[in-house]
Amino acid sequence: MSILDNRPALKAGIDKVAEVAGYLWMKGWAERNGGNITVNVTEWVDDRMRAMPAITGALAIGKTLPQLKGCWFYCKGTGKRMRDLARDPMANGSIIRILDDCAHYEIVADEPVAPTSELPSHLSVHDYLLAKGSPYRASLHTHPIELVALTHSKKWMEKDVATRMLWSMIPETKAFCPRGLGMVPYMLPSSVELADATIRALDDDYDVVMWEKHGIFAVDTDIMSAFDQVDVLNKSAQIYISAKNMGFEPDGMTDAQMKELSDAFGLPK
Ligand code: 13P
Ligand code: ZN
Repeated sequence: MSILDNRPALKAGIDKVAEVAGYLWMKGWAERNGGNITVNVTEWVDDRMRAMPAITGALAIGKTLPQLKGCWFYCKGTGKRMRDLARDPMANGSIIRILDDCAHYEIVADEPVAPTSELPSHLSVHDYLLAKGSPYRASLHTHPIELVALTHSKKWMEKDVATRMLWSMIPETKAFCPRGLGMVPYMLPSSVELADATIRALDDDYDVVMWEKHGIFAVDTDIMSAFDQVDVLNKSAQIYISAKNMGFEPDGMTDAQMKELSDAFGLPK
């Protein structure tokens, strides 16, 4: 018996998380328990599920997030591996409901799997997205090797320097990550400070931000689209490195070529 039984929409949403978790492992971005995913599943929760008792007491979020009243989220479990989640999402993650005080949650799921340690960042971002009226419902944090390597140089941490280089490697990257890559200076993983800095960076009109010397955080309508934004960015970083390994600095597309792309596809930047 699973909470997903007879809830095909909820099950399909969580199956998509499991599919992405498998890709993260295959990409080499998910060592051990690295990375986390949360999805706002509120629209797939029915009245019978709303009436279910929790399997834990109330737990603190660490922040008060007024937009999240009555919302439900699927969360990767803290310490759980993406490669395990890919096979069994309800043993390596759980569904939580936010309580009416907007500062606590309880687990309503198959097993009492404690949510990711990055919950303050994830839930702050969902709160921010709802306040903005955004259709985005999924957030992804992962450790993509080449993009994390870039953040070990001050040059690439400067505003939009990495974005410009990554966009110029292949047209798809600008087309499918059209807001580019924001930069968040190093902060303690799982901290409320990191959560607040992530919101500030997203609010500077990015869907994807780097956490210096740690990883990436991406938001989109669903988890597959969030993954795709990270995937195109990391592909560009790999092309850059391949050119460097061949012994030359890649030319990159010109400013005129990138402007032509934005005009042709109606891109926001
Ligand atoms: P969790 O296992 O708590 O999700 O943490 C993984 C991680 O990448 C922290 O930044
Ligand atoms: Zn991490």
